[in-house]
Amino acid sequence: MNSADHPLDSEHIGEIGRHALIPDTVDVSHRTILYLEDVTVSFDGFKALNNLSLYIDDGELRCIIGPNGAGKTTLMDVITGKTRPDTGSVFFGQTLDLTEMSEHQIARAGIGRKFQKPTVFPEHSVFENLELAMHTDKRVWYSLFAKLRGEQRDRIAEVLQTINLTAQREQRAALLSHGQKQWLEIGMLLMQNPRVLLVDEPVAGMTHQEMDHTAQLLTSLAGKHSVIVVEHDMDFVRSIARKVTVLHEGAVLAEGSMDDVQHDRRVIEVYLGE
Ligand SMILES: Nc1ncnc2c1ncn2[C@@H]1O[C@H](COP(=O)(O)OP(=O)(O)OP(=O)(O)O)[C@@H](O)[C@H]1O
Ligand SMILES: [Mg+2]
Repeated sequence: MNSADHPLDSEHIGEIGRHALIPDTVDVSHRTILYLEDVTVSFDGFKALNNLSLYIDDGELRCIIGPNGAGKTTLMDVITGKTRPDTGSVFFGQTLDLTEMSEHQIARAGIGRKFQKPTVFPEHSVFENLELAMHTDKRVWYSLFAKLRGEQRDRIAEVLQTINLTAQREQRAALLSHGQKQWLEIGMLLMQNPRVLLVDEPVAGMTHQEMDHTAQLLTSLAGKHSVIVVEHDMDFVRSIARKVTVLHEGAVLAEGSMDDVQHDRRVIEVYLGE
């Protein structure tokens, strides 16, 4: 058998590798990347989400705000498969029914989530953390082909730049500031090349300067990724917001530009005016 016929020749693996690194099976031909329709989630009769409908465009940066208990985190739990809706549909692009997929399958399909508590490996360097985040993808035969390793190194360098930690690449993660750890965690998600990134309260505990950097980081990700940010800090939301969705009692109360929702009488009553 000559090498061109060999199913595991390097070029072939390269194809698989690229394919695995950049999930492109999401059908966004209608521009919408996430569909939630009439979603209800009940906990012992209490409706954390109540007939919620929400649509996210491919590449958009959406901010979700709302009072405590409005259902913001539950919404993220539903998208990532952690919580199953009682009723309603949740689609990733035109074809992927998220209610039928496991948490792992959803993550593999390209929906990444950043939790509030950073889960970096403290004893490893920043660079190694990013490398480890990439290696969780067992479908790619990283160690076998130098070409792919080169691509990986390029990708790590690119992500280091995006998260503003190029100068800290050899530093142990334990020594990073709180804000830097949060960025590293975002970087680790980026190593998986998610189509959608969910970020719950990213700037809690950050300094003003770190908040500014986080605003730059998240806005720079939009376009390449769809980013959904839940945040209570209104100054921060104002600094990044294009379209804002206000949740209240498990449903969408208002949606529009920050200016629109800020002047919405109902929003002022239940949230901003408090
Ligand atoms: N596993 C659960 N069991 C019972 N009730 C729950 C559960 N998860 C959430 N809830 C309730 O559902 C409601 C919505 O919670 P959720 O965490 O989604 O709100 P949130 O908008 O994220 O609030 P916050 O701004 O405080 O983070 C709350 O009343 C909460 O107590
Ligand atoms: Mg929450």
